[in-house]
Amino acid sequence: MPTLQSDALVFFGATGDLAYKQIFTSIQGLIRDEGLNVPIIGVAKSGWTLDQLKARAKDSLEHHGGIDQNAFKKMLELLRYVDGDYADSDTFVRVRKELGKATQPLHYLAIPPSTFGAVAEGLAKSGCGDNARLVVEKPFGHDLDSACELNRILHHYFPEERIFRIDHYLGKEPVQNILYTRFANPIFEPIWNRTFVRNIQITMAENFGVQDRGRFYDEAGAVRDVVQNHMLQVLANLTMDPPTGEDHEAGRDAKAGLLKAIRPLSAESVVRGQYNGYRSVPGVAAGSTIETFVAVKLFIDSWRWAGVPIYIRTGKELPVTATEVIVEFRRPPRETFGEIVPIRSSHMRLRVSPDITIALGVRVKLPGERMVGNDVELNLQRQSAADEPPYQRLLGDAMRGTTELFAREDLVEAQWRVVQPILGNVTPLYNYDTGTWGPQEALQLIGSDGPWIDPQVPSPEK
Ligand code: BG6
Repeated sequence: MPTLQSDALVFFGATGDLAYKQIFTSIQGLIRDEGLNVPIIGVAKSGWTLDQLKARAKDSLEHHGGIDQNAFKKMLELLRYVDGDYADSDTFVRVRKELGKATQPLHYLAIPPSTFGAVAEGLAKSGCGDNARLVVEKPFGHDLDSACELNRILHHYFPEERIFRIDHYLGKEPVQNILYTRFANPIFEPIWNRTFVRNIQITMAENFGVQDRGRFYDEAGAVRDVVQNHMLQVLANLTMDPPTGEDHEAGRDAKAGLLKAIRPLSAESVVRGQYNGYRSVPGVAAGSTIETFVAVKLFIDSWRWAGVPIYIRTGKELPVTATEVIVEFRRPPRETFGEIVPIRSSHMRLRVSPDITIALGVRVKLPGERMVGNDVELNLQRQSAADEPPYQRLLGDAMRGTTELFAREDLVEAQWRVVQPILGNVTPLYNYDTGTWGPQEALQLIGSDGPWIDPQVPSPEK
């Protein structure tokens, strides 16, 4: 693994939620696992002191990931804090001072996209942006136009190869494993197409609501929050062509080819739902029409996938928390043994969470004289969750300058293009009860390709 080259780590939004839940634990992990030893500068406008930030880091680790005494001690030595407004040039002068001798810093913008422009400009004008890498968090824009505008603003100050757009699903081991399994085994490629695949289902279910994120969520909804980014990235890994050549952009080029071939969604191919009780969550508008559940049917207009229906559904307050992909293969063209083979007898199951599973569903003969069988699943891989948290993986990659697992400009825009026609209230909104699989209308959407396959996992404690 190439060593970390960025010689300072600056994170904007240091007192915020993302830093609390993800960034401190990732930094501690990088110190522990990769010997990160560079100035770590938190920036925020909270009127805090460095000691307050250190206390926050401790609290964060106690709740997310646990404290590793040695790495935490090192983190406290490396930590600096700049309190200031992102619109004030003096803030960046002070960041530059804290950077000391660093010549290749990494700036992580864990802040709302509306502030990206001011920070990128502040960094550029103060010299903090020289030779620097810029990591930006989702949501990357609110729709296609705003994403293009954001790209335009960032490119004014930073070239594309130094911009790292985070989609934490790409940092997940099982999401990478989809690619690995496909391209490390030549047996899958000949059947990975319209001739053998009947349909594909992707379910991302969560058995909790929007928690304390009502205000954020009520401006986003399920399509923007997870379909435009996480789900389309999973789909891309599942359906893209194998990368060709040795160019370091080969993987993202192949992915771009796939994402650009997805037919933009239309109103008829979407069912939106909202769980009962959502409107009383703090921060949610009384008459909100934001969806907390969505099911879509989409097609990829390529020779490989023409005519193969792909179903994606995701929602809050569903019965379980799990993300799972089912690739369903076609049935035999005739019933050779006179038994009625169930419509679903062969498939591949790729579970992303809570455990990592890759399984192949096939029909095997029952012992005895009769030529009848039953369906079994062969587990190719089964392990509990991955060791390395996705944010640590991605932050490490960004510090190494490895761009592969980040969304490139054209990928992000292609993803917005897919969902753009269904943003807003273009389709009815149906209510559903918490603890159910969303509105009944989702069943009609999948029709004879259904029913939906509900991930079978023990429901974790709420
Ligand atoms: C985030 C969404 O990007 O992903 C959340 O904003 C969602 O609403 C989360 O809960 C799911 O991530 P994970 O890694 O827990 O599956």
